[in-house]
Amino acid sequence: MAKVSFRGVSKVFGKDVRAVDNLDLEIRDGEFMVLVGPSGCGKTTALRMIAGLEEATSGDLVIAENRVNDVPPKDRDIAMVFQNYALYPHMTVYDNIAFGLRLRELKGTLWQLTHLGDARQIRLDIDRRVRETAAMLGIDGLLARRPKELSGGQRQRVALGRAIVRKPKVFLMDEPLSNLDAKLRIQTRAELIRLHRDLGVTTIYVTHDQVEAMTMGQRIAVMNNGVLQQCDEPETVYNKPANKFVAGFIGAPPMNFLNGTVNEGKIDVGPFRFGLPTAHPARSMEGQAVVLGVRPEDIYDTKNGVQVPVTEDNTFEAQVDVLEKLGAEDTAYLVAEGLNLIATLDPSSRVAAGTKSRFAVDLDKAHVFDAQSGHAIR
Ligand SMILES: Nc1ncnc2c1ncn2[C@@H]1O[C@H](COP(=O)(O)OP(=O)(O)OP(=O)(O)O)[C@@H](O)[C@H]1O
Ligand SMILES: [Mg+2]
Repeated sequence: MAKVSFRGVSKVFGKDVRAVDNLDLEIRDGEFMVLVGPSGCGKTTALRMIAGLEEATSGDLVIAENRVNDVPPKDRDIAMVFQNYALYPHMTVYDNIAFGLRLRELKGTLWQLTHLGDARQIRLDIDRRVRETAAMLGIDGLLARRPKELSGGQRQRVALGRAIVRKPKVFLMDEPLSNLDAKLRIQTRAELIRLHRDLGVTTIYVTHDQVEAMTMGQRIAVMNNGVLQQCDEPETVYNKPANKFVAGFIGAPPMNFLNGTVNEGKIDVGPFRFGLPTAHPARSMEGQAVVLGVRPEDIYDTKNGVQVPVTEDNTFEAQVDVLEKLGAEDTAYLVAEGLNLIATLDPSSRVAAGTKSRFAVDLDKAHVFDAQSGHAIR
């Protein structure tokens, strides 16, 4: 196990594609860290640099206090699981899992012939590890099958087994669940969390899926355009996003953004005015342009289960354009004086599509961002 650090790491492809831009990030010993961000933000590139498959243009990559920029991939003691894992089609599950170990630990035919005793011991050891790993992943009944005789999820577990069996210092996983159907993805997600808990191996997990990030990461590093936006525990990223990008990326349905101006302790948003909490620092930004951020679950139907006092300063009237009944909650698409908002409502709400209703916003939970920089004001 080991700590992994990016210290001022950049990767420039060609002349000017800054895939990763001055990344400073420390993954603690034994931590499950998720790198998340939209397509093309540099997640895979960051991972490949740690693995040694891509050379950093500048900065230091550090594993367990050792600078590894010049250490060949095979000596970094890292195991990678990719989205498109390739199993050897002609080998059984058993051999797929054992293959890398044999290659690594049984050093060539000549060595084996001259070290018969050692070689026998290593073979026994490999056999034990393969069986233990397969049992841990629930594929011990499949060891004699070939990959084409397995389901997608079973194949995925074989690929994981191949990585786990090596007992590396660090696991790198690049969207390993994206080929699975929704149900299997949720199941395997839980298995991976359990596995990390049992093995305690430092893991860097890449995904563009914010739900995966929120549910799996002990901490989440959100990236955009090669730049780290925020690295924190999931609740912190959700409740205290550092900027508008993070606020909009994490959470579904996404946060509502309303462009406004600060006016006497309130925010003017077109025809509406929303009061700021008493001590909010945006109150001192008189006349300045800001963006008010409201999560869909912080908007209430004033006639049903409203969790905040209803006042002049936190309500607005809107037309319910579309109402999606999801069972546990309703998603309402609202239109108010040309503004579009999404609200997550309790299913017992009586609002109906095509009619007008009054809605209240929990402004204590609202976010304010600087209109220019996008930085959170708090
Ligand atoms: N070998 C390469 N040569 C040139 N540009 C590259 C190369 N690999 C990646 N890039 C560019 O670097 C940027 C980051 O790519 P990267 O693959 O790291 O993104 P990602 O966050 O993993 O995206 P995705 O979610 O789509 O996998 C992109 O703009 C991509 O086009
Ligand atoms: Mg990628």
